Amino acid sequence: MPKLRTVVLLAGTALLARRALRRRIQVSPLWPMPALEEPTSGRPRSRALRLLVTAHETVADGVVRLRLEGRDLPRWEPGAHLDLVLPSGIVRQYSLCGDPEDTSSYTVATRLVENGRGGSREVHEQVTEGMELEVRGPRNRFPLIEAQSYVFVAGGIGITPLLPMLRALPRDAEWRLLYAGRERASMPFLEEVEKLGRDRVTVVEGRPDLDALEVSEGAAVYACGPEGLMAAVEAQFPAVRLERFAPRTSSEGNTEFEVELRRSGRTLTVPADSTVLAAVRRELPAAAYSCEQEFCGTCQQRVLEGEIDHRDELLTDGERADSMLICVSRARGDRLVLDM
Ligand code: FES
Repeated sequence: MPKLRTVVLLAGTALLARRALRRRIQVSPLWPMPALEEPTSGRPRSRALRLLVTAHETVADGVVRLRLEGRDLPRWEPGAHLDLVLPSGIVRQYSLCGDPEDTSSYTVATRLVENGRGGSREVHEQVTEGMELEVRGPRNRFPLIEAQSYVFVAGGIGITPLLPMLRALPRDAEWRLLYAGRERASMPFLEEVEKLGRDRVTVVEGRPDLDALEVSEGAAVYACGPEGLMAAVEAQFPAVRLERFAPRTSSEGNTEFEVELRRSGRTLTVPADSTVLAAVRRELPAAAYSCEQEFCGTCQQRVLEGEIDHRDELLTDGERADSMLICVSRARGDRLVLDM
């Protein structure tokens, strides 16, 4: 019965093909458009390194400095930061505050934030000398530019990215630093900062008077510290260069919009006071993300339809054409379609 065998064979093949097709469509409703090789289109990460913690020391009240050692470490410029993968797996960014010429170690410092998101507590309480930590970077989005003169404003731990800048300035550079903190004991690296130029450094315990800050024409203004201080500096000197390590909390001007996740066949609402990432994670808890602060690029997603309101400074123009960082960016209209 060769004919019957052929019919059975053909029927079996057709059944298998139909099943495979159904499975394929379940994976991507975009079929037959090819699925991305990876379900999320995250930015390629920089090479990860495993470094040894060789120092974990308190350098001011509530501030710990870490020294991470390795070999032939990538070089960095003042203003750069490092991604640290903490023992729980969360990733946090810390400004490098050591010597850029030292290719055998990186130094970072962090203040314990009592009601923070948990990163600083992990560094203070769980990271210990002898432990290995994964790091990525360094990356720099706060570079020291050439200018006629410089004005630096630091609030507490915000001194960390500014310290290597102060050290790197030419001897004859004109600069001033306003360094504010709760009290001297809680201000890291104060002694070193004062040694760099006592007549150029103003130390303030408590709220600084920004009106007293003289900024001459052509001066570059840099600020890093608590959000309130940076907002005040920005209000007074709109061209200020800022380094933020916490998400902006204001939802002013935001509106609600809809996001369709085409691959998953779901549609969500993003409220004015929340983010696309938060809405996506409610539906897809495994969606990739890390810093939630437009630093790491992990949450980058391909956008299939809709106009994007980019709120990051990380993506290139090419990437912005058809993708967005869902932790910060939003829709310009009332709808976006994401390839997830
Ligand atoms: S989660 Fe890091 S850039 Fe969005």
